Amino acid sequence: MKDAPSISSAEGKLGVLLPGFGAVATTVVAGVEAVRQGLGKPFGSLTQLNTIRLGKRTDNRAPLIKDFIGLAELDQLVFGAWDPIPDDGYASAVNAGVLSRGEHLDPIKGFLESIKPMPAVFDTAYVKRLDGPNVKSAANKFELAAALREDIRRFKADNDLARAVMVWCGSTEIFLRPGPVHATLEAFEEGMRNNDPAIAPSMIYAYAAIMEGVPYANGAPNLSADIPALEKLAIERSVPIGGKDFKTGQTLMKTILAPGLKARMLGIRGWFSTNILGNRDGAVLDDPESFKTKEESKLGVLEHVLQPKMYPDLYGNLYHKVRINYYPPRGDDKEGWDNLDIFGWLGYPMQIKVDFLCKDSILAAPIVLDLALFLDLAGRARMGGIQEWLSFYFKSPQVPEGLYPEHDLFIQHWKLKNTLRWLAGEEQITHLGREYYE
Ligand SMILES: NC(=O)c1ccc[n+]([C@@H]2O[C@H](COP(=O)([O-])OP(=O)(O)OC[C@H]3O[C@@H](n4cnc5c(N)ncnc54)[C@H](O)[C@@H]3O)[C@@H](O)[C@H]2O)c1
Repeated sequence: MKDAPSISSAEGKLGVLLPGFGAVATTVVAGVEAVRQGLGKPFGSLTQLNTIRLGKRTDNRAPLIKDFIGLAELDQLVFGAWDPIPDDGYASAVNAGVLSRGEHLDPIKGFLESIKPMPAVFDTAYVKRLDGPNVKSAANKFELAAALREDIRRFKADNDLARAVMVWCGSTEIFLRPGPVHATLEAFEEGMRNNDPAIAPSMIYAYAAIMEGVPYANGAPNLSADIPALEKLAIERSVPIGGKDFKTGQTLMKTILAPGLKARMLGIRGWFSTNILGNRDGAVLDDPESFKTKEESKLGVLEHVLQPKMYPDLYGNLYHKVRINYYPPRGDDKEGWDNLDIFGWLGYPMQIKVDFLCKDSILAAPIVLDLALFLDLAGRARMGGIQEWLSFYFKSPQVPEGLYPEHDLFIQHWKLKNTLRWLAGEEQITHLGREYYE
């Protein structure tokens, strides 16, 4: 194994740039400010709450992750955003209807109003169910990328930032497959100059971020930085990237349950998942082309956790179906039902029903915060390219060609912590534990 890289200091202000200033983005921005003001606690965030065991169990060394590895503090964070809808942070958070006005939004109204989204690189061809006037115009996509790069530089200068990271919190774009225009940087830059339709807005943000040395993560399932041209660029420039699609709600449950059933060698015949949600994300996903992108992201999970080719008797005939239904009365309060038809000893059937009444953005907000702080750490360690150790946070983890993604939440968690131990020069924990008995 390579020696751990040296990590530069976390001092100075850290910009957190958010393309997309809707439910998830405003919930994280308002949440961070609420925590800074003592109005709430950052539940769900590993960077704020989790400890890490070091050495033997008998050593009693378990510092908080943030103290152990030296992450930026919440007070150092400065938020910026882009959105085609010009609503400021307060208006957008009220519209999203996630956080309580009385308890969390009104006390920080001035702060939220001060964050106004910059004009977006946006095109309704890629997100069909919404539109807005706060949009950049330029002769071609290369110039749009240049305008985003200018925004990043200006935002850094205006706010006296030491560093910045970018987390895509924008809508799910239509389904695109990687093609020749995504293969190399030359083809990609040429494609931007020619307004190639295979280059979606989220790719332009990712390109701009990497060119500006800004680590980038994608919280939606669209390709964005998951194309060879941008992966190579990220390695060349030592800029961390990660994706795709925040692992919240139903898929979180799936990656908790499926590894458990598989660990016990229990079979699964069918897994039917259906959701109702009524927020703006739900409206966008009501478009079949955006839903297709999400569906691909959600379906891959079981295949990789259960390994049906290795266990054909247990998982070879698994019928897996995922539905998302837009149902406005629910707003951000999603309901996800799962029906699992499982079987055990001699093939006797059993069923599991899960009814998860969740709040999507409440589950996504701590992920955005953790990604921002861990991406910044990776950037300070000059770890360029895909950060597979952050798979823990994604439904559809980005991996290099030829490697299958690891979906098991527990393996992902272990990988994340072992990466932190490696970065800090601490011993890996294998859980072998023979030493306690010898
Ligand atoms: N909420 C969750 O738990 C969750 C989980 C996984 C993934 N996601 C994904 O995260 C994204 C955000 O979710 P949300 O609930 O906040 O949705 P939202 O609709 O409330 O917010 C998305 C915002 O992105 C903006 N947008 C669209 N295209 C843009 C562009 N090109 N540039 C800048 N802004 C753009 C939209 O105008 C909208 O305001 C979605 O893609 C969603 O699928 C959300």
